Amino acid sequence: MEIKVLPLSEAEKKAKFTDESKLGFGKIFTDRMLLVEWKVGEGWVDGRIKKYEPFMLDPAAMVLHYAQEIFEGLKAYKWADGSIALFRPEMNARRFNHSAERLCMPEVPEELFVKGIEQLVALEQDWIPTSEGTSLYIRPAMIGIEAHVGVKPADHYYFFVILSPVGAYYSAGFKPVRILVEDKYVRAVPGGTGEAKTGGNYASSLKAGLEAKKKGFDQVLWLDGVHRRYIEEVGAMNMFFAYGDTIVTAPLEGTILQGITRDSVLTLSREFGLKVEERRIDVHELMNDIRTGKITEAFGSGTAAVVTPVGALCYTDQCLEVNGGGVGKHTQRLYDTLTGIQTGKIADKYGWIKKIK
Ligand code: PLP
Ligand code: COI
Repeated sequence: MEIKVLPLSEAEKKAKFTDESKLGFGKIFTDRMLLVEWKVGEGWVDGRIKKYEPFMLDPAAMVLHYAQEIFEGLKAYKWADGSIALFRPEMNARRFNHSAERLCMPEVPEELFVKGIEQLVALEQDWIPTSEGTSLYIRPAMIGIEAHVGVKPADHYYFFVILSPVGAYYSAGFKPVRILVEDKYVRAVPGGTGEAKTGGNYASSLKAGLEAKKKGFDQVLWLDGVHRRYIEEVGAMNMFFAYGDTIVTAPLEGTILQGITRDSVLTLSREFGLKVEERRIDVHELMNDIRTGKITEAFGSGTAAVVTPVGALCYTDQCLEVNGGGVGKHTQRLYDTLTGIQTGKIADKYGWIKKIK
């Protein structure tokens, strides 16, 4: 599909940020967005890059009532030589369509997803920040917009992409976070939508997150919804534990997000000569292994969170520091290597980088 670029006058452009150290995460948006529509009987039509502006939605738009919504998250980086790189965008396209299938939404052709993003990012390239730890966060999403209050899949959708220059996801930057193991609420159950990147999963996580924040934690670590016993993932990251030179993470069994950073961390860990295990981790065993020092590091992975060290983990009334609350050596090396590849300082042996120009 040909994507039209609608004119945008200089007067319509926003003032750009001046201080990259104050970007934070996801508060500023660029001048333009991509919008493509899907209509029953027609398929994908009317792709355009247009001014970033509010949507006019019918109050009966189905997304507002039954939450037919999915999204993705990836980043663009401006390298020192001026070129622009995306990190594994085809993986986001595939996961987006996996989410679409679960929510009974139309699939977006991989080429439309990736080319649309490339075209938008190329037009908005002056918005990509360049200082250490910053990037342009890309947020593709799809919503059902048919005006109808009966429960069924919508017959009209918006697929859209917006862009946000960002700094670190956690306000403290690359510093160990404190995580509470959630023992009251659950995020997902087998057969549910845990593996889909859909807004409802995040809405239903808010209460646990707020209660944890009040107690001084950065995020919660979810347990499986059936036994309330096995480690799943954190609000916006997959979770890893190092037992010396063995890296352990929860398996992909349908209830956690198939993290693209998770997959990259597993590949890099193998490359470093570490042993990798994808297996169920019992929370009681986990706390015991932290207490006895068998677990030497804990960290999370995600597009927004990159690689984030976990310095303390609390479960019911037990609070334990991991690695003395500091950053472990594997965590640091994974962070350095991953961000090195993303920003062009380390050669990409894996074909993860997609250059835009
Ligand atoms: N788990 C959840 C619930 C997330 O929201 C994210 C963020 O996208 C991740 C894991 C990490 O996934 P990825 O590495 O693909 O960003
Ligand atoms: C991401 O890492 O891209 C996410 O989607 C996490 C979060 C901002 C929801």
